[in-house]
Amino acid sequence: MKLLSKIALCLLGLLTPILSFSNPTNYTTEIIPLFADENLTQKIGQLEAGAEIKLVQTTAKASEIELNLWQKTKGFGRIWYHDFAKNITDAIFEKDFISNNPPLEILADKEDPNTGLIWQKVKMNVWVENSEFTQDLTNFWANTENTYKTECSVCHKQRDPKMHDANEWIAVFNGMVGFTDMDEATQRKVLRYLQMNAADSNSHK
Ligand code: HEC
Repeated sequence: MKLLSKIALCLLGLLTPILSFSNPTNYTTEIIPLFADENLTQKIGQLEAGAEIKLVQTTAKASEIELNLWQKTKGFGRIWYHDFAKNITDAIFEKDFISNNPPLEILADKEDPNTGLIWQKVKMNVWVENSEFTQDLTNFWANTENTYKTECSVCHKQRDPKMHDANEWIAVFNGMVGFTDMDEATQRKVLRYLQMNAADSNSHK
């Protein structure tokens, strides 16, 4: 009997990995909080809407996700960006967490010839509440584009996102956004839309 219950335990152990996913690419559709632990006790930052993540495992309590992003060596590295040399924000970490030996892995170092700053490709696993991710941002971008068209064509015709590159859009957008009444979460989505479709865009949509 003892042996049998041991075997049963082993089988249970084998079943657990079935709960985890085979690492598909997912995206957030809203800003979500990030945590250091599965019990979601230590909040360490937040992830922007439209950010790409990999699901490592989902438990009853939470999901472990892998972030693969870029940071600059200058400053605290609180902000992690979508792409090399582009200030498209994906994650924002709390200073206490990111400056106290966070469990990140540095995968590459690269100098941005335009600014002379060193960018690092970084990888880290963090925890989030079990939330709904999407594997397809088509609706997300369509809605955001609509908001952009409505909010930003009141005074002049809609500007082509290709008018500026991703880094230039930050200042142009910030100069204009005060004319609109988008809430902050919506502003960030619209800025992301402009940056992702900017003159130097290599991704999509
Ligand atoms: C209350 C009116 C108003 C609203 C709303 C508005 N703009 Fe403008 N925008 C202006 C004016 C005035 C100018 C300068 C004259 C021009 O170029 O037409 C301008 C110019 C621009 C330019 C060209 C200048 C440059 O630096 O490239 C861009 C791009 C632009 N706006 C983007 C936007 C975006 C994005 C939004 C939405 C967040 C927006 N605007 C909302 C009034 C507005």
